[in-house]
Amino acid sequence: MQRFRFAHLSDPHLPLEPDRLRGRGLLSKQLLSYLSWRRKRRHHHRPDVLAALVADIHAHAPDHVAVTGDIANISLPGEFTRGREWLESVGLPGQVSYIPGNHDAMVTVPFGQGLGLWRDYMEGDVVAAPGSSLPDGLFPYVRRRGPVAFIGLNSGLPTLPLLATGRLGTAQVEALGDILSDLGRQGLFRVVMVHHPVADGVVKPRKGLTDRARLRAVLARHGAEMLLHGHAHRASLSTIAGPSGIIPCLTVPSASCGGLGKDEAAKWNLVTVMREADGWRVQVDIRGYDRREGIIPTGGYTLLVPFPTV
Ligand SMILES: [Fe+2]
Repeated sequence: MQRFRFAHLSDPHLPLEPDRLRGRGLLSKQLLSYLSWRRKRRHHHRPDVLAALVADIHAHAPDHVAVTGDIANISLPGEFTRGREWLESVGLPGQVSYIPGNHDAMVTVPFGQGLGLWRDYMEGDVVAAPGSSLPDGLFPYVRRRGPVAFIGLNSGLPTLPLLATGRLGTAQVEALGDILSDLGRQGLFRVVMVHHPVADGVVKPRKGLTDRARLRAVLARHGAEMLLHGHAHRASLSTIAGPSGIIPCLTVPSASCGGLGKDEAAKWNLVTVMREADGWRVQVDIRGYDRREGIIPTGGYTLLVPFPTV
């Protein structure tokens, strides 16, 4: 039996310090978010928790690691350079697939000084031709690993203060349909990665993916075996319609959350994909942070995912 194991973690939100506000040039949205970090969020996102979680992933030696966005907090230059170092601590570019979150795109940053520093963690097996209409020529990307195809989307974009919405845009959604059809014909286990949730009601409207109905229509028509997202900062399993049943949509809490107050402590999913005679058997083992015991098993479930009817 062919078995493929991958880890899913999300929203690491690396520490903002030692970045300091310079005053000039800082946009109001960044200022509000910086104050929120100083007042509250820095106590919730802990580097020691994130380091323990990454060490636990390494101990399980998965075949691949999927990270669904929000390394940064307010998109300052230092966050992108430290983000690069953190990605390298997780694994080599070919072993780790990243997609941007809204905090990685809080303001417009020149590609070479921002997301471009993480480029090889977001590059598909085939890179789009220069001049492609797709954002930065990168998205959607496809990385085929064993029986699994990871399809990365970029929903991060600058928004007005107090909003954390995302948008994919026409080019990405249309390209996705063709990609899903092609990969489905090849019999691959298609994992779509997008930072913002796709099912309704997972997050408040001010945090939602504005064109999620359009994305759902493409997924309902062309199918996918699984969708991974971030942004919710809590574990959830939601579903959306596929052409021959439901598509499971999985997310995990922030990988650095120590579980202060009502926040759900850090978790990651170890997903084992097995091809069987009549469909895919998917085992999801959840591991999470406990302040006394470190990273421990916290639950799990099995999904039976049918092959597409072509
Ligand atoms: Fe986040």
